[in-house]
Amino acid sequence: MAERKRKILFVCLGNICRSPMAMAIFRNLTDDWDCDSAALGPWHTGNSPDRRAIKTLESYGIKLTHAARMITSNDFHTFDIIMGMDHENIKTLRGMAPPKTENKIKLITEFDPEKADIVPDPYYDSGAEGFDLCYKICKRSLEKFLSTNG
Ligand code: 4NP
Repeated sequence: MAERKRKILFVCLGNICRSPMAMAIFRNLTDDWDCDSAALGPWHTGNSPDRRAIKTLESYGIKLTHAARMITSNDFHTFDIIMGMDHENIKTLRGMAPPKTENKIKLITEFDPEKADIVPDPYYDSGAEGFDLCYKICKRSLEKFLSTNG
């Protein structure tokens, strides 16, 4: 019998910059996981990703489409891994995790071979360099994650 695909949810504050980028990068690396992304805050619900996120991924040949949505408590049961982008994300996720789901929460840079502490939030930057850094940290962290969880 075919096994169920594992499921991973990428999470950040607004779900228009870092977590949709991580989702699209991961989808581009593997077909073996179902991926989605979600926000911890409500401000951009229903919105497309930031134009700079779309452009940055386009420059690496990756298409990004997503409608921002809030994380739900059900997500902690549905997904096998819930991956945040910085320490604040992890703190918020731990605070809302239903019983026995806290072990699903991971910080993406736990897997970074170059040991970045976090994926910095590029939203308030005036340019797009922060989005390129986001791409690089997510790509190398997710490649490493896959090499042990592929
Ligand atoms: P993200 O960036 O968490 O990487 O999507 C942000 C986007 C929007 C806001 C904060 C962070 N905001 O406060 O609107």
